[in-house]
Amino acid sequence: MTVVNWKSQCEKTLYWGVIEFKGKVLITTPIYYINDVPHIGHTYTTVAADVLARWHRLKGYDALFLTGLDENSVKTVQAAKELGIKDIQGYADSMAQKWKKTWKILNISNDDFIRTTEDRHKENVRKFFTLVYEKGDIYKGKYEGLYCEGCEAFVAEGDLVDGKCPLHKKVPKSIKEENYFFKLSKYQDKLLKYIEEHPDFIQPKARRSEVISFIKMGLKDISISRPNIEWGIVLPIDEKHRFWVWFDALINYLVNEKYWPAKIQLIAKDILRFHAVIWPGMLLSAGYELPQTIFAHGFLTINGQKISKSLGNMIDPLYLAEKYSVDALRYFLLREIPFGQDGDFSEEALKARLNNELVANIGNFINRTLTFIWTRFNGEVPKAEKYDELDKEFEQRIKAIASEVDEEFEKLRLDRGLKKIVEFSSFCNNYFQKKQPWTKNEDAGTCLYLCANAVRNLAILLEPFLPSSAENLWQQLNLKNFVYEQKWDSASELTLKSGHKINRPALLFRKIEEIKEGMQTKLEKIKPTIKRISMEDFSKLDLRIGKIVKAEPLPKAEKLLKLTIDIGGGEIKQAVAGIAQYYKPEQLEGRQIAVITNLEPRRIFGIESEVMILAAEDEKTISFLQPDRPVKAGSKIM
Ligand code: MSP
Repeated sequence: MTVVNWKSQCEKTLYWGVIEFKGKVLITTPIYYINDVPHIGHTYTTVAADVLARWHRLKGYDALFLTGLDENSVKTVQAAKELGIKDIQGYADSMAQKWKKTWKILNISNDDFIRTTEDRHKENVRKFFTLVYEKGDIYKGKYEGLYCEGCEAFVAEGDLVDGKCPLHKKVPKSIKEENYFFKLSKYQDKLLKYIEEHPDFIQPKARRSEVISFIKMGLKDISISRPNIEWGIVLPIDEKHRFWVWFDALINYLVNEKYWPAKIQLIAKDILRFHAVIWPGMLLSAGYELPQTIFAHGFLTINGQKISKSLGNMIDPLYLAEKYSVDALRYFLLREIPFGQDGDFSEEALKARLNNELVANIGNFINRTLTFIWTRFNGEVPKAEKYDELDKEFEQRIKAIASEVDEEFEKLRLDRGLKKIVEFSSFCNNYFQKKQPWTKNEDAGTCLYLCANAVRNLAILLEPFLPSSAENLWQQLNLKNFVYEQKWDSASELTLKSGHKINRPALLFRKIEEIKEGMQTKLEKIKPTIKRISMEDFSKLDLRIGKIVKAEPLPKAEKLLKLTIDIGGGEIKQAVAGIAQYYKPEQLEGRQIAVITNLEPRRIFGIESEVMILAAEDEKTISFLQPDRPVKAGSKIM
């Protein structure tokens, strides 16, 4: 056993017992704004980063995958205010729970989750700023310009379309103020030289050229503080100023300094300049190494329009995951869109990929192989005795595929790597078809031995994209998925031995019924449709008439009221309802309303909401459902 030098950095292959350890790797996503829940645009970047992290781990790297939230934006304050919430940090905390939950459901394997309202981040920002300040790269100056709150950045008049920010379709604010500046212009030549000498630093190529021409036009110093704002990190040198949110946010990437410089920083093209110009400028000033690669992928679009909150065309990833499965969504996002380019989203395309590739191709090969071994070979991988030309060719393909895929992934061509895996699976199906093992020919054993190994190798290659299907497959194969045992490099070998006993096979993917083409638009199709529940389920609801005994405002949330309700039988319950805009507390006391009394209680702003009130809602108002003649509190609704 070689002695482990823990300080040794990337690319040096070390051995620690059976574990091949290739060094540290940091992979990051942008940290997202919390003015809304994640949509499939955010999901796209996060899933891609997750695939890269899982792939690196399978290759034996100590990969740290970092994602998180950008909370110090004016958008946070605005979103909380729109909901009538005064406690901004409370709002941020509740949004953070939602983001974390979504990533958990989507099987995102992040090792850390940074929130910019955390103390560890604030400390890092002050430390970083001090380095830049001591370098002499900060000065006070006057700024006059147009600020787009969507971009959280000053925008040039020439970039506006009809006076509006082309991305957020909003008129920017005119701002005239004194703030602190960072001498970005000082790093213009150094940065240009660095980009030119490091062709892989900014990717894809088109983005690199875009950045080069932008820098060549001349870099201006940038304002990095805003006076008189209520939210954000205070400057250590002037308490009247808070950091411009981008200066603060970019520093999140240094939270696990041991892993810096990052190997891959994934972003979309909307935030390229912040990452490929400002961020490296900041790092050069503070004396940090630059990341190895900043990769800006394209936009997920609907009818050619970017999916975003400001355009109101978001799609909930959890809705898609529930309908088609988490793995199908992950697979689709990376398979459908050439990584680096824009790609249109449609539910039909997702369905087609699921039905034609996951079910009919990959799932079919895996299931026919395992079922054959289960039924004809007593669940044991058979012996390979005779090899004909077809078998030899197949064995070569099995050994070659991992490195072919690897080549694509190394260049961050995730879609092309995935395409190779699908093509490999088609090749496997063709081989099976040509060999016709069901005719009980004498080399059926060889065929199934090779197919079983192809299945095992497919499980490794697909694991980064389809983690839960891969886990299921490891169980069916009766192999442990301990990453180092079934690691990436072994996907070019045939390690499954004759005599190995598998478990009962089961389908990995299920076909989704076709939607009949109708008059619906794409957007209508992606809206969740009404879900039917059984009469039995409905009858489980305890629907009653309750009487409001007391109604009180909640000091922390302007839109909510706390109601105390008599639900009959001497039981008094409380509810928190978002109705303060529509009803004054004094209008409510004594009123009869319809309630559901047996749902799981929920905590809303620290108060247990035990019953749910039924109300009708249209675009203008909310109106309670109430009986048209008085009945006793607790009367059942039939
Ligand atoms: N908070 C900043 C980033 C700070 S990083 C130091 C921000 N946040 S964001 O919530 O607007 O997220 C932008 C990122 O979300 C994009 O760069 C991209 O990674 C992802 N996407 C959001 N919408 C997207 C699409 N429609 N398509 C592809 N990616 C999308 O900017």
